[in-house]
Amino acid sequence: MSELSRRTFVIASSALVLGCAACESHADPVTDAKPIDLGEVKDFDKDGVFDKFAKTKKVLIVRDNGKLYAISSICTHKSCGIKPEAVTGGGLKCPCHGSSFSSLGEVKKGPAKQSLMHLAISINDQKHVIVDPSKRFDKEHWNDTAAVVHIA
Ligand code: FES
Repeated sequence: MSELSRRTFVIASSALVLGCAACESHADPVTDAKPIDLGEVKDFDKDGVFDKFAKTKKVLIVRDNGKLYAISSICTHKSCGIKPEAVTGGGLKCPCHGSSFSSLGEVKKGPAKQSLMHLAISINDQKHVIVDPSKRFDKEHWNDTAAVVHIA
């Protein structure tokens, strides 16, 4: 290995080590979040988007054909807050730069390129909906066991 490429390797390796150290010192507020209780499952009694917790907890609850999903309300473009579209049958819209998503979070119109992240969801013994924002699922895993609750 030449001196120049050895030096390049050492600098690159140091940057990786320092980069990891920096990651640990800046805690991710989403992955560090604790599970949250969003109330009784009967409060989500019909298909549609429930945005009651969009501002405070950054979570949208979507009921769709007997399934309940928790979806991050943080836009994948530049992290603005997503809102349900006002039109009937509409999905979700970002007010910042106009991205729109299906009600389950698939990108319908950019500039966002990535679908919204789904969050872990479960029902506890008291029939309350529990969302764990520290566990996130990309589109390929939206129907994983921990990412969806089947309700009658
Ligand atoms: S932050 Fe949502 S479209 Fe830009």
